[in-house]
Amino acid sequence: MMNLNQNILEKTEKVASKKLMLEIKDLKKSFGNNYVLNGFNLELYEGENLVIMGKSGSGKSVMIKCLVGLMEPDSGSIKVMGKDITILNRMDLDELRTEIGFLFQGSALYDSMTVKENLEFPLRRHKHKFGHITDTTQLVIEALQSVGLADTIDLMPAELSGGMQRRVALARTLILKPRIILYDEPTSGLDPITAKEIIELMRHIQGQYKTSSLIITHDVDCARVVSERMILLIDGVNYAEGTFAELKASKDEKIKAFFK
Ligand SMILES: Nc1ncnc2c1ncn2[C@@H]1O[C@H](COP(=O)(O)OP(=O)(O)O)[C@@H](O)[C@H]1O
Ligand SMILES: [Mg+2]
Repeated sequence: MMNLNQNILEKTEKVASKKLMLEIKDLKKSFGNNYVLNGFNLELYEGENLVIMGKSGSGKSVMIKCLVGLMEPDSGSIKVMGKDITILNRMDLDELRTEIGFLFQGSALYDSMTVKENLEFPLRRHKHKFGHITDTTQLVIEALQSVGLADTIDLMPAELSGGMQRRVALARTLILKPRIILYDEPTSGLDPITAKEIIELMRHIQGQYKTSSLIITHDVDCARVVSERMILLIDGVNYAEGTFAELKASKDEKIKAFFK
């Protein structure tokens, strides 16, 4: 009896010590007859790299857009660091957004702005987070340094390679010092070597900034290197969860299809 209680206590403590950064429950979203998300769940804990893998068109971007409030789900709850984003007012939501960095699919830099201006953009939009900053240059340089591109500060996006653009986009995400980073297909459209560099960078950033990351990908290499835990999004639900090795060893046909 004593032993049992002790066991339960230890288990409870273990769970409680891991802080829940994101929690999605029973998320549903359809477009007409296209039922994209049919009750998707996920939990992202502090300091963790969680990979969501799903085929093209399976609803990965839809899920992430619901998560950052760019799209409204039909039902379900989304909590960011314990706060339900579907019931927050605009101001609170805006503040919470500064805790989440979102690296869009593609790089989505502003073509007509220099690298520096691109990085200053989120600073201007979320002034309150840093009080009154008169000189943003130092913050811009720091963020660029963490992706190894301080010398591109005055260049235009068109002057950068695809991999460099992805790095600058990541620096723009980092400048607000988010607690959580969402990566939507961080390696898509890149050659394998550049993709590897981006993956390395993601790991380096997690070490330096102590972020928790949600990584959406259909790149098996990316998932293998980066994930501690994976969720397979199939038919709009979390079809399977586990480590890369566990999922790769599965006998389920739908799961096996991912690793071919
Ligand atoms: N704004 C939209 N209006 C209608 N259908 C959409 C919209 N956004 C996404 N979809 C549909 O939702 C499905 C999932 O899309 P998406 O999340 O972009 O897939 P992926 O997993 O490749 O990121 C697709 O069938 C897509 O056509
Ligand atoms: Mg997508």
